[in-house]
Amino acid sequence: MSLAQPTATDPSGDVSGLAIDIHTHYVPRGWPDLAAATGRTGDHPWLSIESERDAIIMLGSKEFRRIESDCWDAERRLGDMDADGIDAQAVSPTPVFFTYAREPAEAAKVCRIFNDLALDICAPAPHRLLPFAQVPLQDTESACIEVDRCKVNGHVGVEIGNHVGDRDLDDDGIVTFLQHCASIDMPVFVHPWDLPSSPRLDRWMGQWLTGMPAETHLSIIALILGGGFDRLPRGLRIAFAHGGGSFAFWLGRVENAWHRRPDVIATSEHPPSHYLDRFSVDSAVFTEPALRLLIDTLGADRVMLGSDYPYPLGERPSGALIRSASSLTESVRSALLGRNAQAFLGPAAVDRLRP
Ligand code: CO
Repeated sequence: MSLAQPTATDPSGDVSGLAIDIHTHYVPRGWPDLAAATGRTGDHPWLSIESERDAIIMLGSKEFRRIESDCWDAERRLGDMDADGIDAQAVSPTPVFFTYAREPAEAAKVCRIFNDLALDICAPAPHRLLPFAQVPLQDTESACIEVDRCKVNGHVGVEIGNHVGDRDLDDDGIVTFLQHCASIDMPVFVHPWDLPSSPRLDRWMGQWLTGMPAETHLSIIALILGGGFDRLPRGLRIAFAHGGGSFAFWLGRVENAWHRRPDVIATSEHPPSHYLDRFSVDSAVFTEPALRLLIDTLGADRVMLGSDYPYPLGERPSGALIRSASSLTESVRSALLGRNAQAFLGPAAVDRLRP
C-alpha cells in the first residue's frame, strides 16, 4: 500500500467510513537554535537526539520528556495507524512549544518555524496526516496573521492552549482570535497546558491526571459563564481534548450554581446546558461509562475519536474504546470514528482525504 493512500477509502472516493484521530501530536526531529533564530536570549526548548529512534525534549538543562521517532517519522506513524485501523490523523503541536509567555514577535517566529516543520512531517502522506498549526495567542493580531499564513500553506486547523497566563478563553483578545478562526473556516482544538504545579500536584503525574481534566473543565466554563459563546458565531468549530476534562461529569453542579447563585456566576445569557451544541470533545476517556456520559451529555454528534497518540497517556490502539463499546449502535460508532471529525475538520480537509 502506498503511504499516501487512506486505508479504507473506496475507489469511488467515498470517505464516509474513514477513521479519523483528531488528537495526536508531533515533535520535529530538531529545529534551529531558537535563541539565535529570534535574536533573543533565554532558555528555549531543544532536542537531545539520543539515537535514530530516541530523543529527549530539553528545557534548558532539564529533561522535559523522552520521545520516540513516532513523533516525527511519518513512515512509523503511518505503520502505527495501519495497525490501529486509523485512516487519518490531525497532527497537532506538543503544547510545551506554544511560546505564549514570550514577546509576541519572538513567539511568532518560533510558531513559523514549528508550523513549517509540521508541514514537512506530514508531507509524505498529505491524505492521511493533517497538520494543525500553533499561533502566538498572547498577541491577537500576530495569532491571526499566523493562522492565515498556515491556512494558505496547508494546515487544516489550529491547536491552542486552554489559557494564556491568567487569560482564559473568554478573554477579549482570545475571543477575537476565535472569531477570526470562524471567519476563515479553521477548526480549533483546545489542549490543556501550563498546569499548576505544587508539591501535591507534582506527585504521581498529578498535573496530568487531575490538572489537565480540571483545566479543560475550566476552559469550557470560561467560554460559557464568561460569555465567550455569547460573543462567538455558531459557525465556530471548537473541540476540547480528553473528553472535555471533568466538564460532562460536573455540568449538573455548574448548572445548579448558575440558577442558585446568579449573584456570582450567571454572567452568560443562558444556563450552561444551553451551550452544549457549541463544542465537541474527543474520546480519550478510556472507559465505556465515561464515553456514554459524553454522548448522553453532549450528543452523539459531538464526540470524536481522539487518542493523544503517540504519548504514553494516550489510547492504544487508537479508537479501541469506540470500537469495543458494546452500547453504541453502528451508526453512532461510525459517527464517533470519523463522521463527526469530518464535520469538525470541514469540507476543505475532507477533500484532502480523497486519493
Ligand atoms: Co494531547
